[in-house]
Amino acid sequence: QGLKDIFKDSYHIGVALNRWQVTSDDPKAKSVIENNFNSLSPENGLKWERVHPDPDRFNFEFGDEYVALGEKMRAFTIGHCLVWHQQVPDWVFEDEVGDLVGKDVLYSRMENHIQTVAGRYKGKINGWDVVNEAFNEDGSFRESKWFQIAGKDFIKEAFRNAQKADPDAELYYNDYNVWRASKRKGILDFAKEMKAEGIKIDAIGMQGHYQLESPTLEEIEQGIIDIHEAGFKVMITELDVDVLPRPRRAEGADLNMNFANSDEYNPYKEGITPEAEAKLAQRYEDIFAIYEKHKDKITRVTFWGLSDRNSWLNNFPVRGRTNYPLPFDRNLDPKKEVFEKLAGV
Ligand code: G3I
Repeated sequence: QGLKDIFKDSYHIGVALNRWQVTSDDPKAKSVIENNFNSLSPENGLKWERVHPDPDRFNFEFGDEYVALGEKMRAFTIGHCLVWHQQVPDWVFEDEVGDLVGKDVLYSRMENHIQTVAGRYKGKINGWDVVNEAFNEDGSFRESKWFQIAGKDFIKEAFRNAQKADPDAELYYNDYNVWRASKRKGILDFAKEMKAEGIKIDAIGMQGHYQLESPTLEEIEQGIIDIHEAGFKVMITELDVDVLPRPRRAEGADLNMNFANSDEYNPYKEGITPEAEAKLAQRYEDIFAIYEKHKDKITRVTFWGLSDRNSWLNNFPVRGRTNYPLPFDRNLDPKKEVFEKLAGV
């Protein structure tokens, strides 16, 4: 039983893919993707620096293949992401001498980008992460270059452009740590303000980059309830569970050390222990029990990566560790205990 079958009466089950997975001829990768997921997200391939690296150059090779796979699978396809502060080239914000441009220039570049990218996939991409990660943990606006130049209105402008480019696509605001009350309040207050002004915004994406112990289940649940009560659909857009201890300078970790060789910070380099895998399975069971309880509010749950092998968490917050955050292991085999727990939720 694939993941999408386990949750077929609840929500779409998605996966974030990169180029090799989208174009893969590997029969195992193909069958894992097709049998487990009915929604797709592009992990990196539609980000600004990839799709629009220079002012007059767009690169749609990945996007076209991605959309074709989505059509073939009849999957609910996500576009990620139109406006973000990361993975966006400097030229977007600068003039010829490297000074920040004014709001009008920035907005015309934004319009050109969104019209060209979302416009190309009009009717082919079902939902867009229009703006990604624009808030701080305390609920204030992140001091990104977007914000420095245009203030908070850049968020509204992005949604206005996206709606114009593809009036039928769903439009999302997406962020991490939405389980944190202070951050969530900033996001939801602003999303409600947009809606009141007639700007289309359909869902709030809670990314879902979790650890074994944090956030608490109560925090996750309250996030879902509050988004729903504010009048938006809930999407879990980037789910994974980091099983490694987080090295933090503030807690005394030497961030110059070689973490790949560390027993303390890379404890499962030779393979995960049964105890740790059992904890992962339990965490997934607990999280999905919350999602199931609120399945009337949640329309999609997307895993951020196909298997442990390619997860970004092998390189975060430090490079070169061996992490085990996903339901599929490095050989693309399903983790038995995780699947048993999920099937029993
Ligand atoms: O493709 C190049 C490769 O050619 C080069 O040799 C290599 C050297 O570093 O880099 C490769 O690009 C990397 C890319 O991932 C593909 O693996 C980039 O350096 C690296 O920065 C990039 O990281 C991505 C990250 O976003 C960028 O900020 C992660 O894969 C991706 O999972 C992550 O996804 C984000 C979401 O978009 C937004 N929410 C948080 C989430 C996790 O950070």
